[in-house]
Amino acid sequence: SPAPRVFSGIQPTGIPHLGNYLGALRSWVSLQEEFGSVLYSVVDLHSITVPQDPDTLRRSVLDMTACLLACGVNPDKSCLFQQSQVPEHAELGWILSCLTSMPRLRHLPQWKMKSQSQKNEGSVGLFIYPVLQVADILLYQSTHVPVGDDQAQHLELTQDVARTFNNQYGEFFPIPRALMSSAKKIRSLRDPLVKMSKSDPQKLATVRLTDTPDEIVMKFRKAVTDCTSEVTYDPERRPGISNLVAIHSAVSGLAPEELVRQSRGLETAQYKLVVAEAVIAHLTPIREEVHRLRGDTGFLTGVLTRGTHAAREVATPVYDAVCRMVGL
Ligand code: ADP
Ligand code: NA
Repeated sequence: SPAPRVFSGIQPTGIPHLGNYLGALRSWVSLQEEFGSVLYSVVDLHSITVPQDPDTLRRSVLDMTACLLACGVNPDKSCLFQQSQVPEHAELGWILSCLTSMPRLRHLPQWKMKSQSQKNEGSVGLFIYPVLQVADILLYQSTHVPVGDDQAQHLELTQDVARTFNNQYGEFFPIPRALMSSAKKIRSLRDPLVKMSKSDPQKLATVRLTDTPDEIVMKFRKAVTDCTSEVTYDPERRPGISNLVAIHSAVSGLAPEELVRQSRGLETAQYKLVVAEAVIAHLTPIREEVHRLRGDTGFLTGVLTRGTHAAREVATPVYDAVCRMVGL
């Protein structure tokens, strides 16, 4: 079997929130210790599937890079790069789009969801972006891909396209496997029935990595719970307080049951402040590092340039081989 190689990407969407960090970015850091070869990409080509302001997009790529580094992605261990600087992503995407049927894409839930919110049902790019994701992964002959459950169907598409290519042109792509996150989904602080998301319009629903301690306290103080004042962990029947326990568990490393035991006698209102303090303690070094790095644009672009060179060293021979096999 081929040497293990991990690929993952994240869109440059400003400062990540607590859900992104606890659900994805934190595991990126541990994967770079576990696997010899990992590639992490700021996938700006995916962002332009919906309208973007050019200056904001440029700034967001650097902000996301600063956040990844601040969370612990180490550019000496991982290849950290900007997707659009490696042209083979789009080029391989084209070839693979010719191996993918329209109905296969039309049935993906993400298309149904995202196209509804766009004028004229959205762009052709929005329709075929899952194929670009397939190319992102296969371009490095990746063997493992960390995915949230919302992306599981896109990894299945990747496996299908890899098999189709191998059947048609000869064994070439390893069939990549999912590294399913065991992390619990973090819920909105204002509506514990939906996940914390960058697109949530409610101001106090989402905690960003750069929020100040005061902002974090205010958001947890206003977190929606129920009218029982006891702290228990019961995600089905008490999603609000259970979300707070889950966040507390994720930042402290202690089991929910242990935290519930420790919180016996506390009112929900008091417990909210305990969780806020735990989150502040966890995020403060990250926030300070993000601020330091955001001020050093030269350093950030340098990291991305080095990453681009390293990524292309893998990508170019793979893409060239694909072209030969296809007859291009
Ligand atoms: P958003 O939902 O805010 O648009 P993305 O879809 O860009 O976030 O997700 C980026 C990464 O963060 C994905 O790996 C996704 O699974 C993870 N993620 C997003 N929201 C959450 C959440 N609330 N809890 C846990 N992980 C999350
Ligand atoms: Na999303």
